[in-house]
Amino acid sequence: MRMEPVRLAVFLSGSGSNFQAILDTIAAEKIRATVSLTVSSSPTAYGLERARRAGVPTHIVEFPLTDSATTELLGRLAALQVELILLAGFLKKIPDPILRAYPERILNIHPALLPDFGGKGMFGERVHRAVLQSGAKTSGATVHLVNERYDDGRILAQAEVPVMSGDTAATLAARVLTIEHQLFPRTIQHYIEQEFSVAPVA
Ligand code: GRF
Repeated sequence: MRMEPVRLAVFLSGSGSNFQAILDTIAAEKIRATVSLTVSSSPTAYGLERARRAGVPTHIVEFPLTDSATTELLGRLAALQVELILLAGFLKKIPDPILRAYPERILNIHPALLPDFGGKGMFGERVHRAVLQSGAKTSGATVHLVNERYDDGRILAQAEVPVMSGDTAATLAARVLTIEHQLFPRTIQHYIEQEFSVAPVA
């Protein structure tokens, strides 16, 4: 059974609160992993500040990604021996060469109960507005594997929250985000135990 930490890269575009939850869970020794690189699609994402504070190297990518920028990113991931990529609020599509290099090795968190309320253009407030407009009584978060289609890969775990009367997209988003911070680290831990034969943590 493997004891050394699994090497992760976290891709983000914004605040990075899920990234922080992952860092905190690793620091509490509840995930046998280490974040080797943070990749941001925005130079001003607050997630980059979280990376600097945690001493995690950063890499900024500008979209649309050129072939040479994709090659450079792949080279960096390989040099750091990254084994698993986590999309924590990454708003861009993952280029095919990265998908091919990491089959079943890219996880995403989506702020709704897939397969509903997913797909192209369904991110941020739009997801929560669509949930409210549908009249659904429940929403939640989904962690899934990433393939070449938006929000389409195998679902690994979900957690639910109630939709309350009087909810706005912002209040619902905040309730969902709170459970994301539990669901994502827990799912990562289970996934690496299964897929990398990593010893469970107590
Ligand atoms: C989360 O709601 C996540 O589900 C979605 O983007 C948001 C990112 O939030 N993919 P944060 O940057 O982790 O705070």
